[in-house]
Amino acid sequence: MEKVDVAQIKQMDRDYVLHSWAKQKSVHPKVIEKGEGIFFWDDEGKKYYDMCAQLVYLNVGHSHPKLMEEFKHIGEIPLASPGFATASKASLAKKIIDVAPSNMSKVFFASGGADSNDHAVKIARMVTGRYKIFSRYRSYHGATFGAGNLSGEGRRFTVEPGLPGFIKFDTPYMYREYIHFESQEAMSDYYLDRLNSQIMYEGPEQIAAIFMEPIPGSNGVLVPPKGYLEGVRKLCDNYGILMICDEVMSGFGRTGKMFAVDHFDFEPDMMTFAKGVTCGYSPLGGVIVSREIADYFDDHVLMTGLTYSGHTVSTQIGCVTMDIYNDEHLIEHSAAMGNILAARLEKLRRFDSVGDVRYIGLFAAVELVKDKKTKDPLIAYGMDYGKDKVGLMTKFIGMLSEYGFYTYSHESSVIIAPPLIITEEQINEAMNLFEDVLTHFEKTVLFANPSVMSK
Ligand SMILES: Cc1ncc(COP(=O)(O)O)c(C=O)c1O
Repeated sequence: MEKVDVAQIKQMDRDYVLHSWAKQKSVHPKVIEKGEGIFFWDDEGKKYYDMCAQLVYLNVGHSHPKLMEEFKHIGEIPLASPGFATASKASLAKKIIDVAPSNMSKVFFASGGADSNDHAVKIARMVTGRYKIFSRYRSYHGATFGAGNLSGEGRRFTVEPGLPGFIKFDTPYMYREYIHFESQEAMSDYYLDRLNSQIMYEGPEQIAAIFMEPIPGSNGVLVPPKGYLEGVRKLCDNYGILMICDEVMSGFGRTGKMFAVDHFDFEPDMMTFAKGVTCGYSPLGGVIVSREIADYFDDHVLMTGLTYSGHTVSTQIGCVTMDIYNDEHLIEHSAAMGNILAARLEKLRRFDSVGDVRYIGLFAAVELVKDKKTKDPLIAYGMDYGKDKVGLMTKFIGMLSEYGFYTYSHESSVIIAPPLIITEEQINEAMNLFEDVLTHFEKTVLFANPSVMSK
């Protein structure tokens, strides 16, 4: 491709590119000039700690040498449409099944997270002959029409009025629970009872699947109370409903285990994945299905597909990425570095504006509040989209960026999910920056002027 300078890139971007989830006039993107490991540099030479691994996908870090080398070999495996078998597609499917829960047996490849979820919905409907799909309010499953209908948070509003039969239920949210429970198990029982009633009211024999992020990510890393996911599994078994776990964000070592479901005592019927399978070096997603579902399609037509299912380039990149996880022991490293991050996050509780910290592996969120006692959130629910983004969270994220700590927020939670290759020293450096910003933010913005608190 011909060389273009930074000024030209920015001008053409302004003139010709539409950016997601934003009023276009408010978008002033920087250009990434270079990326290496957990760092990247912008067009002014400023260095950033990439503390959200771009959009929680760059698990192996920027410019990983093995992937950069692999790009030189692109084209050696001939391009082939989905009807052909290729070395990369077959090998990657095997590598994924080798690390998936023991009941999993085959992979259907898609292009990214959202369309993987769309295909999982279709598969669930084909296998069960039922049409209703349950998913949760505090969830994000993607922006296509199907995944948009699955999503529970505000980004679903543009696909509404939605598809008939897409039913939402509540996500247990321990920090913001109003009822006092004696234990996490008691909280799980309460939410499972409510879910059970909802299933009854909707007609269990109509429900194809319950769809859930085992640990909702964008919605604030909501680690479930003990026994909850296992309880959902039991409800599914009671009623012949399929349980589908969206591991698009939580999969491939993010939580300190290969998949988030590996932390719990159950196996889903299907899992969807994307991001970490190639770490974004090439787009890829997919649906992993159980032996029973795979067998069903031995004699029934799998009525779904797409031009790039199992795309040669993406699956080739996926194979190398899977080898990197293994060769560099990145899953174990994520668990170990998760402990270092956890210790630093716990220390943040001393700040007046920190309501809660939640973490599992290198998947974490810091929830900010105006008042610790009332838990008044920094921004009200639903203020992320559709309004001008000039609120307190936008200010805080902007300050982090000025200090070289790159991440994003959703509602009042700041996401912290760095590349899994991060070291102890780098975690401490980045979290020192985070504390500096928090101190500065509290002093100069949040508690500086009483009128801020009433906004
Ligand atoms: C849990 C989850 N599912 C699905 C998606 C959608 O993935 P994509 O943007 O690749 O379509 C995301 C994206 O962040 C996600 O976090």
